[in-house]
Amino acid sequence: MAEHSYRTVAQVGELIEGRGVCVEIDGREIALFFDEGSYYALDNACPHQGAPLCEGVIFDKSVTCLWHGWRFSLENGTWLDSPRTKIGSYPVRVEGDAIQICVV
Ligand code: FES
Repeated sequence: MAEHSYRTVAQVGELIEGRGVCVEIDGREIALFFDEGSYYALDNACPHQGAPLCEGVIFDKSVTCLWHGWRFSLENGTWLDSPRTKIGSYPVRVEGDAIQICVV
């Protein structure tokens, strides 16, 4: 994967364990989560009615949308109640203190 495809979106220490934040890359909103020491990145807009998933509840490597309770895997974006449906999920890495997401 091309080196330049990773973009720095936050610094280590900025995220609260068990919470998400919304970051923007080239106009695209991405929800960045920090859970049990790992980072995950998903499309921020819930495919149901567009709620911001970054504000959802994290539990057992999933995020639950606050509006109507749809749950998505933090690891791969699968909608856990109907696994044939997925939202975008993106690789995350830490380089030094930089948290980087690959959006390509
Ligand atoms: S908007 Fe997310 S479950 Fe309805």
